[in-house]
Amino acid sequence: MEVIIRPDAEAASDLVARIIAAEIRAKPSCVLGLATGRTMDRVYQRLRTMQLDFSRCRTFNLDEYVGLPPSDPHSYRAYMNNALFRHVNIDLANTHVPDGMAKNLDAECRRYEAEIEHVGGIDLQILGIGKTGHIGFNEPLSAFRSRTRVKALSPTTTAQNAAFFGGAENVPRRAITMGVGTIMDCRRCVLLATGDSKAEIVAKAVEGPITSMISATALQLQRRCVVVVDEEAAARLTQQEYYRWIFENEPEWEPFRDS
Ligand code: GLP
Repeated sequence: MEVIIRPDAEAASDLVARIIAAEIRAKPSCVLGLATGRTMDRVYQRLRTMQLDFSRCRTFNLDEYVGLPPSDPHSYRAYMNNALFRHVNIDLANTHVPDGMAKNLDAECRRYEAEIEHVGGIDLQILGIGKTGHIGFNEPLSAFRSRTRVKALSPTTTAQNAAFFGGAENVPRRAITMGVGTIMDCRRCVLLATGDSKAEIVAKAVEGPITSMISATALQLQRRCVVVVDEEAAARLTQQEYYRWIFENEPEWEPFRDS
């Protein structure tokens, strides 16, 4: 795992957008794993302005609420269409979000896994982090070998997303999410966290002991994982000096230093 600290949320989001752009330019037919959430808004805003050719890209989102149709503005399908897809030249048929309305949810989860396998796996997975330390909707005690499945949302997550639904009582109680094992199989992943509300969980996820209580700690076992944080989200990390040195000196970050 590598940690990159940028001065603020703008710069951190910009770096993640540039990492995605570099992937698309290097491999126009790349398979992207995409995330939703407030943290991702800036990344997609930035991507929209970069004049990238998405025409051969395939995308798979991490998760979707159970019971929300794509037409529901709170669905993650609607989020993705509004935040990115309708603004770029991606073929909607190449964009995948689990179907939270599927009659047979278990079959839908198996189908989603099979689709990812069919395209040869995910090249670059983008991740946010919830306050419980979840990636996707992998709530505490999610098995590290778990695959796409239905997961019940924890009270902390429900509270975190309550504002979108006009109150916690309106937040769906379950979601389809890629499993921790599904996420771990990607070739490379980038986790973005910004703001002081994420400082404590970022420190636990990156420098704490590996535990299924915090599914993001599984990323310590991922072969190519970069955690991009702003100063606020980095505040509780103990090895900041080392992380800063890496970004300033390691050749792989040279093309990204000028922002
Ligand atoms: C939801 C999503 C996660 C996301 C998290 C953080 O729970 N399922 O994938 O990482 O929100 O959201 P935010 O960026 O709004 O803090």
